[in-house]
Amino acid sequence: MTDFSDEWLSRRAPFDLAARDGELAVRFAAALGKTARVIDLAAGHGANFRALAPIIGGDQDWVLVDQDPMLLTAQAGEIARWAKREGWHCSSEAEGVVVETGSARWCAKAKRLDLSRDLERLDFASFTGVTTTAFLDLVSAPWLDRLAACLADRRLPLLATLSVDGRRDWHPPLPEDAAVLAAFLRHQGGDKGFGPALGVSAAAYLKDRLDGLGHETLAVKSDWRISPEHRRMLATLLEEATAVATAAEPRSAGLFARWLAERQAQLSGGLLSMSVGHLDLLALPRKTP
Ligand SMILES: C[S@@+](CC[C@H](N)C(=O)[O-])C[C@H]1O[C@@H](n2cnc3c(N)ncnc32)[C@H](O)[C@@H]1O
Repeated sequence: MTDFSDEWLSRRAPFDLAARDGELAVRFAAALGKTARVIDLAAGHGANFRALAPIIGGDQDWVLVDQDPMLLTAQAGEIARWAKREGWHCSSEAEGVVVETGSARWCAKAKRLDLSRDLERLDFASFTGVTTTAFLDLVSAPWLDRLAACLADRRLPLLATLSVDGRRDWHPPLPEDAAVLAAFLRHQGGDKGFGPALGVSAAAYLKDRLDGLGHETLAVKSDWRISPEHRRMLATLLEEATAVATAAEPRSAGLFARWLAERQAQLSGGLLSMSVGHLDLLALPRKTP
């Protein structure tokens, strides 16, 4: 179920929220100016907006871009439920979904766009910052070059959170873990619609590109830590790891199936936990002398 379904994005959201680096978010917020105008690339159902708007604090205008019409439609409901839980007023207006907290007004507008083709159609000049979450690892080096050029041209801050970096540790360890991981990582380099994906190297690649184009960059770990009581999440990740490894290396299907059976027994016994390595990347335009 680890596609981009609404259900999967909701299941991963609490782990994302716990893993995000708070310090980078605060530094990003400080770089946005008095009225923040933020574009969220590959926004899904709006998790990034919900995580960052309270940290940014003041009035904000967001554009939440995705190519999936179902996720774009889901954004309004997710934002409304979140606002209700927080005790804020939420309404649907012509300009987008508007959350009023009493001290701030946050407007989030959904925009449908295929970012692989149409990135440059976004009017970057009208924003004060760019965010993205759980997306960089899907894209290719040439696409990251295009994104870096857009950010450098307009001297825009970027906060790119939760890009996988290839570390996946199951506890307790098993001898087959290395083979499962190696096959899993081979699969990460497939084409997700942007050319061959950089996968686990994407955040480091973009960091280097932006360093070279006049941004000051910082990458820190933002790992998922999934403890034994989160059985549904662990079961999903076990099935995903096995399916992906088997697709990448069908000849080892038997080994992967035995690994899965042993892991499922640990899961049932409440003995299994894991961590998934991610990076958060902050890039701020260097101050001109
Ligand atoms: C792993 S999800 C992350 C969603 C969201 N940022 C979150 O954290 O919940 C990846 C997102 O990339 C979007 N996506 C994939 N290819 C895209 C494309 N070519 N153009 C726009 N969005 C795309 C998917 O629809 C999905 O919402």
